[in-house]
Amino acid sequence: MLAMTVADGKLIADTVPDPEPGPEEVLIEVAAAGVNRADLLQVAGHYPPPPGAPAWPGLEVSGTIIAVGDDDNAALVGSEVCALLPGGGYAQLAAVDAGLVLPRPEGVDLVEAAGLPEVAATVHSNLGYLIEPRFSEAEPRVLVHGGAGGIGTFAIQYASKLVGAHVWTTARDDFASQLQDLGAERVIDYRSEDFSAELQAAGGAQAILDVIGAAYFEANLKALATDGHLVIIGLQQGRTAEIDLGALLAKRHTVAATALRSRPIEQRRQILAEVFAHVWPLLDDGRVKPVVTTRVPLTEADEAHRVMSAGGHLGKTVLTP
Ligand SMILES: NC(=O)c1ccc[n+]([C@@H]2O[C@H](COP(=O)([O-])OP(=O)(O)OC[C@H]3O[C@@H](n4cnc5c(N)ncnc54)[C@H](OP(=O)(O)O)[C@@H]3O)[C@@H](O)[C@H]2O)c1
Repeated sequence: MLAMTVADGKLIADTVPDPEPGPEEVLIEVAAAGVNRADLLQVAGHYPPPPGAPAWPGLEVSGTIIAVGDDDNAALVGSEVCALLPGGGYAQLAAVDAGLVLPRPEGVDLVEAAGLPEVAATVHSNLGYLIEPRFSEAEPRVLVHGGAGGIGTFAIQYASKLVGAHVWTTARDDFASQLQDLGAERVIDYRSEDFSAELQAAGGAQAILDVIGAAYFEANLKALATDGHLVIIGLQQGRTAEIDLGALLAKRHTVAATALRSRPIEQRRQILAEVFAHVWPLLDDGRVKPVVTTRVPLTEADEAHRVMSAGGHLGKTVLTP
C-alpha cells in the first residue's frame, strides 16, 4: 500500500507492506487522515512513534472497516468509522485497536470525520470534568487558547454546548465571526490584546485549556479565578517556566498537563467510550460540527505540514488517499 514515510525530515510517498489486523484490531480502508501538530514534530524527529506503532505519522483516520482480526468483530465489516491511532494514519490502510474506533456520526461526512477523534478525545479528557453534576450548574467561564486551531475550534463548541460555559478564546481577530458562530462569547486577538488583564477584569476563568505552554504560564495563572483549573496540552511556546507557589495556594489553583498518545491503551479506550456517550449525540444532531477547512491529497502531506506550521489557518486539515 501507499504510505507517507519520513526521510530526511520530509514526508515522501512510499510503498510499504499492507498492515494485518491483530486479534483485537480492525483494518480500515482510509477515507481521510487528520493532520496534527504532533505529526509535524514526528517528521522533525522530536516525537518518535511509540513501540509497536507504524513508523509513518497519522494519529487519526476515517474510513470503512474491510477486515477484522477476530470473529467477535465480524459484524463491523463494512462500517463507516473514525479512529484514534498511535501512528500510521498517513496511508491507504490502517490497523487499529477495535476499542479506539467510533462510528461515523450521523450528521458528519466520512472525510470530515477524520478530523474528530484526536480533538474530541483530547478536549473531553481535559474538560470533561466540567460536565460532572457538581460543576454543571455553575456556567463557568472557560478560556480556550488557540481558538482557531483544530483543538480550539472543537473546544469552543464543547465548552459552550456541552458544558454551557461562557467561552473566551485567544485567536487572530480575522476569525472572530467564525469562532463566535461556534460558541465563543469573546474572541481576544492574542497579537494586540492582553488576555490575562481582560480575564482578571472580568473576574477570571474557572478553567483554561492551554496550547501555548511556558510563554503563557504566568499570565494563565493570573487569569484563573480562585479554585480555577489550568490544563496544559501544548507547548508551542516553551516548556520551562517559573511558578509562584504562594499565589497558587492562595487562590487554590490546580495545574495539570496531559498527553493523549502516551496514555495506556485502557485509558484511551475509556476516553473514546466516554466521547461516544457524551459528544457523539451532539455530532449526530449537528449541534457540534467538525471544522475541516482543508482537504489535501495524501501525497501532498508535506505541503499540508508546511501550511500548518506557518499558522493562520482555521480548523483542521485532512489528507485523502
Ligand atoms: N496533549 C495532547 O494530548 C494534545 C493533543 C492534541 C493536540 N495537542 C497540542 O495542542 C496544540 C494545538 O493543536 P492543534 O491541532 O489545535 O494545532 P493548530 O491547528 O495548529 O492550532 C494551533 C493554534 O494556536 C494558535 N496560536 C499560536 N500562537 C498563539 C498565541 N501566542 N496565542 C494564542 N494562540 C496562538 C494558532 O494561531 P495562529 O494560526 O494565529 O498562529 C493556531 O490557531 C499543539 O501544540 C498540539 O501539539 C496536544
